[in-house]
Amino acid sequence: MLEPTIRPRRLRATPAIRRQVCETRVHPNALILPVFVREGIDAPVDITSLPGVQQHTMDSLRKLANDSAEAGLGGIMLFGIPAERDACGSGATDPEGILNRAITAVAEEVGDALTVQADLCLDEFTDHGHCGVLDADGRVDNDATLARYAEMAVVQAQAGAQIIGMSGMMDGQITVAREALDAAGHQDAILLAYSAKYASAFYGPFREAVDSQLSGDRRSYQMDPGNRREGLHEVLLDIEEGADIVMVKPAMSYLDVLADAAAESIVPVWAYQVSGEFAMIEAAAQNGWIDRERAIDESIVSIKRAGADAVLTYFALEYARTLR
Ligand code: PBG
Repeated sequence: MLEPTIRPRRLRATPAIRRQVCETRVHPNALILPVFVREGIDAPVDITSLPGVQQHTMDSLRKLANDSAEAGLGGIMLFGIPAERDACGSGATDPEGILNRAITAVAEEVGDALTVQADLCLDEFTDHGHCGVLDADGRVDNDATLARYAEMAVVQAQAGAQIIGMSGMMDGQITVAREALDAAGHQDAILLAYSAKYASAFYGPFREAVDSQLSGDRRSYQMDPGNRREGLHEVLLDIEEGADIVMVKPAMSYLDVLADAAAESIVPVWAYQVSGEFAMIEAAAQNGWIDRERAIDESIVSIKRAGADAVLTYFALEYARTLR
């Protein structure tokens, strides 16, 4: 009979041994909760395709912010849903716009306990639903959009955003945001670059969450899911442009890109477990096809293991509580 001398199973024998040799641990601080705030509602609204996630009022946002601080989360990433939209996304740069008011509310409420983060993109604010402004032929105009992003960055920093999430995938967006922030005296505002952001089917439920007006797709600015090397190019470019943190998005289908970024980056690397990734787990669990808690834990641990220093996830609050 064969008698192995090397027995990896030794280290799997008991829960205590397994805990001792566990390579990947998630701390609540490494979790960021994406949050939706909607203008013109007086009670939170459920999002059907994201069970348990809601569009918040300013009041329910304040409560959620306190719960998140209590649970020890690293931060909250804010998304705004305005009542009115137009071609250039005016609401995004209105200091009284929903997102900017939400930033101030969270900063006031828990700004010392966690980081206040804001999504910087025009898609929630435009009536055509694209992430930028359009040219005469209806194409997303990169350089005209940069001017809007620069303005938006300053307004968000003024409102109290500590971390500004550049999610629009326009070329040069980190450079222009940094220059605009510095010129306005916001040298301390941190730029989180959604560097390798793919044109993904997994953003599906997000469209319901922000009541998206988009018809068509974002393939002329978000990346092709088949491209790995290009993901690293985007990451390195953003670091060169001055990104303080880089990100890969979505997470679970892009762990190779995430591992590449983690190997090469000299700044923190984050990953975004997006709405469709959340929805898949919830849907399968509702059918009794997978163990919900184990799937949540395994998915987040895997993203961390692949190289993410922190993870944006709709599970953040619930998951952080299980880690305590
Ligand atoms: C752009 C943005 C999107 C998401 C985050 N920021 C939508 C998109 O690019 O189409 C998607 C996040 C998710 O699906 O959870 N503002």
